[in-house]
Amino acid sequence: MSKQNVIIYPGSFDPPTNGHLDLINRAARLFDQVIVAVLKHDSKQPLFSPQERMEMLEEAVSGLPNVRIDSFDNLLVDYARQKGAQLILRGIRAVSDYEYELQMALMNRKLDPQLETIFMLPAEAYSYLSSRLVKEVHRLGGDIRDLVPPLVEARLREKESSV
Ligand code: PNS
Repeated sequence: MSKQNVIIYPGSFDPPTNGHLDLINRAARLFDQVIVAVLKHDSKQPLFSPQERMEMLEEAVSGLPNVRIDSFDNLLVDYARQKGAQLILRGIRAVSDYEYELQMALMNRKLDPQLETIFMLPAEAYSYLSSRLVKEVHRLGGDIRDLVPPLVEARLREKESSV
């Protein structure tokens, strides 16, 4: 039996955007299995709980049979080892992402030389998109319907009305 290419796409996904989904779709076409891994405890004080972020992702990838949603709370290299994955996927939108991504990829390589980080570009239309900006634009009344899946927009509205 041939070896399965399992790739892990880790992130905060607070919340998932169309940029994340664009990358997941691209990866699903290239790799046997894509595991989207939500970081549970984040120093950035997420708006959505890990459970909520996973629910939004589950719904958004429901049409992709080789994509699974999971969460993790440990070192990424340890999590990848547990899952039997040798590949990490990260998106690079602009040059400004490069330095942080390079640092993480090299640190992960130092921790586990067997692990490869693969970078992919989202569609140009999403090159300015970030979860942080989506939250800010929505909080200040801007229209984010083209930027996130419908469930994410609905969940953001619910959050706003509950605070
Ligand atoms: O979406 P983000 O916030 O840019 O994702 C960052 C993430 C989750 C990929 C990174 O913080 C991470 O891997 N955290 C897990 C803990 C870890 O392994 N830290 C060392 C990374 S070099």
